[in-house]
Amino acid sequence: MSANVISILNMKGGVGKTTISCNLAVELAARDKKVLLIDIDPQFNSTQTLFKYCYNNLDRYKELSEKGRTIVGLFRNEDEVAEKTMLDNGKIPYIEALNCSIPEIPSLADTRESARKKKIKINIIPGDLHLIVDINASAADKLGAYFFKNHLMNEYDYILIDCPPTWGQLTTVALSKSNFYIIPTNLDEFSTMGISILANQLEEKNNSLQGKLKSLGVVYMFLNSTRAGNGIAVAHRKFKEDLEKYLKSKMDEKVKSEVKPFNTMFHKKNYFVTRSAIYRTSNALSSNEDYAVKMSDFTDEVIERIGEINNAK
Ligand SMILES: Nc1ncnc2c1ncn2[C@@H]1O[C@H](COP(=O)(O)OP(=O)(O)O)[C@@H](O)[C@H]1O
Ligand SMILES: [Mg+2]
Repeated sequence: MSANVISILNMKGGVGKTTISCNLAVELAARDKKVLLIDIDPQFNSTQTLFKYCYNNLDRYKELSEKGRTIVGLFRNEDEVAEKTMLDNGKIPYIEALNCSIPEIPSLADTRESARKKKIKINIIPGDLHLIVDINASAADKLGAYFFKNHLMNEYDYILIDCPPTWGQLTTVALSKSNFYIIPTNLDEFSTMGISILANQLEEKNNSLQGKLKSLGVVYMFLNSTRAGNGIAVAHRKFKEDLEKYLKSKMDEKVKSEVKPFNTMFHKKNYFVTRSAIYRTSNALSSNEDYAVKMSDFTDEVIERIGEINNAK
């Protein structure tokens, strides 16, 4: 087994990177896959979201962060801590196993008998506000050494990396360990511009990675709702057309990989604006079910695209 390592990236904030990272982690874990989420964004929203979702509060996170057991610890003193911790309990240092109980999606359950709740485990390397001060060029080597020493590629089916909204050392570090990337985006004027900037950066990065890094696709997030059958409100149409033209005519060539929109897209919903947006939420599945089903469809697409790329090798 060798993990599929997926960076979730866009140089814009608020486009759904964290939403995709966390929900994809939940859906893959719901399928009994071994999942590790690495929160490399100094805003550490994935960490906040998942600790809250699984434990209802951030107490455990505070404890870990006080002991330096976040990604900052990994970058600071990976060597000594790694060896010590491996010896005492066999656990991998800096990785917290979150045990969550998630509601089954009724419309996806095989039988009516199926349990209404399912226990899943999501492993996370928690993020940290202090990440910003610590990063230099040796970080990629440290992360690489950490993956190697702890056999992470054999340990997991999927490793997801929630990236910061900037192109800098942190994103470079994430991509240096990734095989794939997913780009969540809105459909507006700035998003299309943002993706062309991202394409240029990826082009440069890919040269040094010799084409190892493949696009899984672009996922449209937080769209205006519409009655239109194709789900695209009038306000988004031109931007969608322009973006897709850009992907086909320019970006594919730049990044040496087909950058296709996913069929599944996510519309804006007020319910999610004010709370952490895990779409499998126990207390209100009736209002979330549609989104939970969509996230499951999205997960199917991700798995299928990974399969196609891996088979073509
Ligand atoms: N379907 C939705 N409709 C509206 N807001 C959403 C939806 N899903 C998630 N959100 C909210 O959108 C905000 C931005 O998303 P987020 O994933 O944090 O973006 P990023 O990580 O790219 O900065 C979050 O506060 C999240 O709670
Ligand atoms: Mg985020």
